[in-house]
Amino acid sequence: MQTLQVELGERSYPIYIGDGLLAQSALLTRHIAGRQVAVVTNETVAPLYLETLLHALEGFKVASVVLPDGEAFKNWETLQLIFDGLLTARHDRRTTVIALGGGVIGDMAGFAAACYQRGVDFIQVPTTLLSQVDSSVGGKTGINHPLGKNMVGAFYQPKAVLIDTGSLRTLPSRELSAGLAEVIKYGLICDEPFLGWLESNMSALRALDNAALTYAIERSCVAKARVVGADEREAGVRATLNLGHTFGHAIETEQGYGVWLHGEAVAVGTVMALEMSHRLGWLSTQDRDRGVCLLQAAGLPVVPPQDMTPEQFLEHMAVDKKVLDGQLRLVLLKRLGEAVVTSDYPREILDATLRSDYAALVQSSNS
Ligand SMILES: NC(=O)c1ccc[n+]([C@@H]2O[C@H](COP(=O)([O-])OP(=O)(O)OC[C@H]3O[C@@H](n4cnc5c(N)ncnc54)[C@H](O)[C@@H]3O)[C@@H](O)[C@H]2O)c1
Ligand SMILES: [Zn+2]
Repeated sequence: MQTLQVELGERSYPIYIGDGLLAQSALLTRHIAGRQVAVVTNETVAPLYLETLLHALEGFKVASVVLPDGEAFKNWETLQLIFDGLLTARHDRRTTVIALGGGVIGDMAGFAAACYQRGVDFIQVPTTLLSQVDSSVGGKTGINHPLGKNMVGAFYQPKAVLIDTGSLRTLPSRELSAGLAEVIKYGLICDEPFLGWLESNMSALRALDNAALTYAIERSCVAKARVVGADEREAGVRATLNLGHTFGHAIETEQGYGVWLHGEAVAVGTVMALEMSHRLGWLSTQDRDRGVCLLQAAGLPVVPPQDMTPEQFLEHMAVDKKVLDGQLRLVLLKRLGEAVVTSDYPREILDATLRSDYAALVQSSNS
């Protein structure tokens, strides 16, 4: 087992990574202060892992809240079901909320924990690759609004993150690929040598090789923990974690939540950010194509939806929270391994990026 630490003063917490951790009762229970626990999960994950977790929680007064599955349910109505469950079981301020599931469950359960009786303890048990390398670490919680993704939420750090790599064995491969988009992101924004490792180990990762997965998760969590430790509330460097996300969120919003997976939209958004960085003269053609090929090797889409116009992109990007003072701030790459957040670019370059022929770009990067 690997243990990392997210350094946030008195709110610091450990990330445990290993195969079979879900059954290791002591890892969880040392982070539970009271006797009450509420496990929040969904109808897909519950049949797979709830029993193992409940077994590890023997002796506690546990309430399970099983939510419908999907990004489309990351909303107020579903959030209310968590409060219903907590209140019906008479949970008090000393209860601990455990999120068992992917990023949707983690974001919602975390937000519920931040709000319930003005804040109760919270533990993340992420079961998708995306949630293991990204959403479970760093304390961003929240829900979607019909007008924008993740528009309602709170910064609220967990007491611990328990990553059982064994849970990835049941994950559909499309979801695994979606998680790899965020893994590749860390290489692109702050860890160029990791890109080389990923190029060599992509097949092992997609074949669920446990050693490769553990290494990739650990290296991703180290990067995320470092960035979060330096800038918890996204005043600066944390925004670089949104590489590909401003373009990607536009795709998610336009297509309707859940049609494109978050990681898939981020992959295409990352291709657009690579292309824009190339157009700005920061990335060589070769560097841009290296990023595109790696995303493709991960089984991810790399071309925006055919029917989406530049105007639609701009409309959705304008409501994205990365807009400050009317200027659209974008995460771009100065070079591979170095991201910048900037609103200082010629507008024509953004327009040209939105009008690029991505099918042709991908074809040329493959040759
Ligand atoms: N808080 C953050 O910092 C942050 C960062 C990135 C993404 N997010 C959010 O995370 C969400 C995406 O998370 P996700 O990709 O994990 O999606 P998800 O939570 O929808 O999970 C994907 C699918 O896999 C299923 N699943 C989960 N674990 C499984 C397992 N072990 N075996 C089989 N099926 C399993 C889920 O039920 C779901 O159907 C988005 O809402 C996004 O906004 C948040
Ligand atoms: Zn993301």
